[in-house]
Amino acid sequence: MISKKMIDDINAQVNAEMWAAHLYLAMSNDAWRMGCRGMSHWLRKQHEEEMLHAYKFIDYLESRNVEALLVDITDVPTRWKHPKSMFEQVLEHERKITQRIDALCHTAMTEGDYATFNFLQYFVAEQVEEEASAMEIVDTLKCMDDDIAALYAYDTSLLAREK
Ligand code: FEO
Repeated sequence: MISKKMIDDINAQVNAEMWAAHLYLAMSNDAWRMGCRGMSHWLRKQHEEEMLHAYKFIDYLESRNVEALLVDITDVPTRWKHPKSMFEQVLEHERKITQRIDALCHTAMTEGDYATFNFLQYFVAEQVEEEASAMEIVDTLKCMDDDIAALYAYDTSLLAREK
């Protein structure tokens, strides 16, 4: 049996994933405005991935006979000064999501809810990947400093992201 606290915490995660999806779509739009087509594409893919995460949590609640409750998505930033500060925020945000997933795992384990604990393992692995890919972009942008030619070449390489 899934507890009320576990349901509430997973429901909050549905909304956190939707918020992240909105954040990355806003970033994608702003990267496009800056002329960074590759980053815009990468962030659009990231937006799609966050929506898939939200669907996974919704589907899990439904498999436990619980309806997910959506809340308004508010206070999403829409402008960034530079691609570097944008991706620093991506990394910071993914680290926060990792903390949230860890807290969900802790609750599931503490409550002896092994079904939920097992379900969450997908996200434990996913967060390692999410942080690593954001960190790689931040580190690369730091190395380039203000080298516009290098930035353009790197931006173009990000158009290759498929998933
Ligand atoms: Fe759904 Fe990027 O964590």
